[in-house]
Parts: sequence; structure tokens; C-alpha cells
Amino acid sequence: MAAPLLEWFDARRRDDIAWRGERDPYAILVAEVMAQQTRVETAAPYHRRFMDRFPDVWTLAEAEEDEVLGLWEGLGYYARARNLRRAARRVVLEYAGRIPRAVSELRTLPGVGPYTAGAVASVAFGLPEPAVDGNARRVLSRLGDLEAASASELDRAARALIAAAPERPGDVNQALMDRGSAVCTPRRPTCGACPLSNRCLALRRGTIGERPPRKRRAPSPERVEAAAVVRRGGRVLVLRRPSDGLLGGLWDFPTVGLSSPTPPAPALTGVLRERFGLDCRVGGEIRVLRHAFSHFRLRLIVHRARWRSGEVTDPRPHRWVRRGEFGDLAFPAYLRRLINEDVSPGAASPRKAR
Ligand code: ADE
Repeated sequence: MAAPLLEWFDARRRDDIAWRGERDPYAILVAEVMAQQTRVETAAPYHRRFMDRFPDVWTLAEAEEDEVLGLWEGLGYYARARNLRRAARRVVLEYAGRIPRAVSELRTLPGVGPYTAGAVASVAFGLPEPAVDGNARRVLSRLGDLEAASASELDRAARALIAAAPERPGDVNQALMDRGSAVCTPRRPTCGACPLSNRCLALRRGTIGERPPRKRRAPSPERVEAAAVVRRGGRVLVLRRPSDGLLGGLWDFPTVGLSSPTPPAPALTGVLRERFGLDCRVGGEIRVLRHAFSHFRLRLIVHRARWRSGEVTDPRPHRWVRRGEFGDLAFPAYLRRLINEDVSPGAASPRKAR
């Protein structure tokens, strides 16, 4: 089966994957981390900018976390960026700047799981290791008509394909992923265009639609929060989020969770006083922002506010930023439009500023 798969890959491989043809293991590691929870076409321009700014593992190891997060702004899942920087530091300190080859060593790097380790080992180093992402999982589940295949079953299936083309393990893995995204799609796969269709057990047995089984997702709950854009003279208060939580290390405005009947303005006045140590006059609503996270939907009601007295007592790092300084800090992407249009018109996001 590997031969028709590779033939198809050679003729039809996706060219919109910026790092195709890349041999540098560091560039491949960065790419595969970016592609963990993001479509490759979305990740491609980020990869280009990231490689321009941090062309090797040493520059990344020396970088400030803020700048790394700035280049990640908009990609989401920011723990990936923090881990990648930590991984670069480990590679410099423990591997003299060379990305390790073995999956067992790659797995010890922060943020590198079985998929990423397999992708780097096979694509960058030509080692016979599987790298099964969601697309490859679908292709393998259908080829073998595997019902709810476990990770180790999928691993075995991928290893068998790789064993049939031992000189091109990275291409076998990437062919499976490309096939899954282009042909063997979740809904309405184009089996007529698939060179493996005559060997596809699920197609023969009519189980394509059930392989792999769909996860039923509970509808994600809504979280309602209020945020205040607090002005003091020409400056606005921002705080850095704790680095180990959601959107960790990014900056945002003072925020309070609302249980549904609470009106936002008094809640903000209270929290600004009690948690932040500030007496502020909270004014009208600026806008309501919505953003879907993987496990909840956020509705954020943003109000303007004016500082009257007090100094910030919240233990998180904070800054009173001027208009032109919003481009120097990384904010969650859903705050950028608010910042650009209402808070600091003309502020560029960090990646555009550089
Ligand atoms: N998704 C993530 N990495 C990929 C790769 N190297 N090829 C195809 N799809 C991918």
C-alpha cells in the first residue's frame, strides 16, 4: 500500500505547507508544534515570521517570553509557545543546540508529545517512526476498517506502512496526513480519487461514515465576564495573565467573572476596588466581544473606566501603557480589534510592528 500512497504524494502533495522541503530539524519542530492544534494553512505565515525572527534554536532560547508570545498572537494555545521556548533552552543546554533525533529524547522536551516527536524523527531525521494526527488517524481507521482504534493500533498500522517504504518514513507520514485533509475527508470523502480505494476495507464494507466514530461533543457552556479599560491620564491599565493558565503570559484588562444576573458596572467597580486597589468611576459599555475556546464560549462585556485614586495591589505584573505601546505586548487575539479601534487606534500587533 505504501507505493501507491507515495506515488500519489509525489504527484499531489500539498504545496501550501511552508516547511515542505525543509531539512532543518529546528524549523520542522517549530512547524509541527504550530500545527498541533492549528490548520497548516493558518500556521504557514506564522511559521515564516517566527523563522525570520528566531532562525535557530539559539535565538529562540535567548528570546524574551513576551516576544515569543507576540509572534504567536492569534494562533491560540499559547502554552505551545512557552513550551517551545523552554524546549529551545533545553536543547541548547543539554544537546549543544542540536535537536535530539530519538523519539525517547524528543519526548522529554516540553510540549513534545508522541505526534510531534514522531513527526520530527521521521521528517527531519528519516527514522521509521509513526506520526498519527487526526487526518492520518482517519485514513488508517478506514483503510483497516478499525473501529475506535486505540493509539497503539494506529501506531502499528502506520509502522506497517512505513516498513514497506523504509527509505521514506517522513513522506509516508505526511502522505497519510495530506490524504486525510485532501481526499479522505470526514464528510464526503472523494474515494474515486483515492489510489488506495481498492484496498480500503471500510469502503468495501460500507463503514466509511463510521470510521473513526464521531465524538459527540457536549455544547460548550458560556462564560460571561466584564472587563474595564481603565484610563489614568493618557495611559491604560493592563495586567499579565499567570503563565500557567489559559492564555498564560498574555496581557489583558482587569476582568471579573459575572454570574448571569449581575450587572457589569457595579461588579467592575467592586472588583477594581477590592482586588486591584483602585477607586475608579466605571462608565458605559464599549463593546461586547465573543470568542470560542475549545471548552467554553466567552462573552466579554467591556466598559470604559476612569481612575480616581489608589495604586495597583494585584500581585500580577501590571503596566499603565500609552497609546503607542500596545504593539509591544501580546494580547489575546480577540482583544486586538477592541484595542485597535477603541483603546489605542492605530496600535499594531507585535508581529506587524516588527
Ligand atoms: N499537519 C501537521 N504537520 C503536517 C505535515 N508535516 N504534513 C501534513 N500535514 C501536517
